[in-house]
Amino acid sequence: MRITMVGTGYVGLVTGTCFANTGNDVTCLDIDPAKIEMLNRGESPIYEPGLSDLIKRNTKAGRLHFTTDKVAAYGGAEIIFICVGTPPDESGHADLQYVLGAAKDIGTAIEEGPGNTVTARTPKIIVVKSTVPVGTNRRVRDEIARHTSKAFSMASNPEFLKEGDAIHDFTHPDRVVIGADSKQTGDMLRELYEPFVRQGNPIFVMDIPSAEMVKYAANTMLATKISFINEIANLCEAYNADIDEVRRGMCSDKRIGNQFLYPGLGYGGSCFPKDVLACISMGQQVDQPAKLLEAVDQVNQVQRDRFIAKIDKHFGAAPGSDAAGSESKTASLNGKRIAVWGIAFKPGTDDIREAPSITLIQQLIDRGAKVAVFDQVALENCAKVFGADIIYAEDELSALDGADALAICTNWGEFLHPDFDDMKQRMNTPLIFDGRNLYRRESMAEHGFVYYSVGRAPVGMK
Ligand SMILES: NC(=O)c1ccc[n+]([C@@H]2O[C@H](COP(=O)([O-])OP(=O)(O)OC[C@H]3O[C@@H](n4cnc5c(N)ncnc54)[C@H](O)[C@@H]3O)[C@@H](O)[C@H]2O)c1
Repeated sequence: MRITMVGTGYVGLVTGTCFANTGNDVTCLDIDPAKIEMLNRGESPIYEPGLSDLIKRNTKAGRLHFTTDKVAAYGGAEIIFICVGTPPDESGHADLQYVLGAAKDIGTAIEEGPGNTVTARTPKIIVVKSTVPVGTNRRVRDEIARHTSKAFSMASNPEFLKEGDAIHDFTHPDRVVIGADSKQTGDMLRELYEPFVRQGNPIFVMDIPSAEMVKYAANTMLATKISFINEIANLCEAYNADIDEVRRGMCSDKRIGNQFLYPGLGYGGSCFPKDVLACISMGQQVDQPAKLLEAVDQVNQVQRDRFIAKIDKHFGAAPGSDAAGSESKTASLNGKRIAVWGIAFKPGTDDIREAPSITLIQQLIDRGAKVAVFDQVALENCAKVFGADIIYAEDELSALDGADALAICTNWGEFLHPDFDDMKQRMNTPLIFDGRNLYRRESMAEHGFVYYSVGRAPVGMK
């Protein structure tokens, strides 16, 4: 099939490359010329394990192309996937300017192009893969129709891949969800996805509003699990219980399961925070307040502030937890050097959008600390936010040189078994604030660290 992916971000680039890898002819379109230049040089603009090799292989085979030329990209396509960003606007609602901008381009290209029927099989199918509020497909259809009188079909195909595991997730999906405006459209998309569900995983074809809703239901459920376990962890701290034991006891109940129930710094990334806000906003628009999700969002905000509050308390700053830092805390970390391990919002990606680390680094800077950071792949993106305000270490150990404390924000596998003796020697003070519960408390006590984690009593306090 001839496919055009609109947007070469984490979703468009991964899914387009995987479609090319099953023999389709794929054109990836982006309005960002720098990204397209990189891709045409054979470089990936994002870090995603395995992606660079797959891009090179499929480009070499002539199945994968990159362009900024809208007319060329849209003109030849049988199926167009809209994969542009849908960030939150000021009120929390999904900002649809990029989706509707792409719809306008598509309508214009269909009108001016060589004709809407590229093959005898079907008119062009426009698929919204971006995560969008229910009803957006209708708006996209209307926007395209404003610019062309030619026929086209519409579909919704929400994407469930996880950054860091994106290729495996896309090529081995738990399920594929397709909302289609006709049986013919649904059948064509089913055919496209069949190579990825050969083990028998389901392809669900449904109406478009339900498909749009599935994505929000799934993401807000996952966000709810994270806020839930964080709330329980906070109660554990208050009542001197240990969240590790509580998790074990709770998660062995098969009805509950053990996925996505790890306490930490709260969820981040480009999806959960904005999707929770968008769902709350969808509720407000129809006078159906999403009260549970409002609480999920609040718990998540508080979780970040609790972490800096622990640091404040340890260093003797006045209690309180506002991100900007009150007058009394402005200089509370003056002269202190704090190392931060992990910037990415999760391991396996260079994505730092809404990452808890970014909030923490800003809070540390606001308090006068000198911050030295290390991340396996996200340092470049971090430098775009903080520039020369912080120190970028070459590896995790050198980040610790002269540090008064270490704060851990991402559970990269490489942080799991560090050389604790070397760490202690490099640090001014053996003090760790672990936002991911990477280490056993007993082991930290044995190594002589003062160790704070989430939902567990601190270790090594006099
Ligand atoms: N990142 C994820 O893990 C993930 C997973 C599932 C779903 N989603 C959803 O997929 C969508 C895309 O997310 P992403 O993380 O890939 O976004 P992204 O910001 O990484 O990429 C979006 C790309 O679209 C391009 N773009 C914007 N307008 C365009 C236009 N008119 N024509 C061509 N290109 C245009 C941008 O330049 C950018 O490169 C969002 O709705 C997101 O919620 C993301």
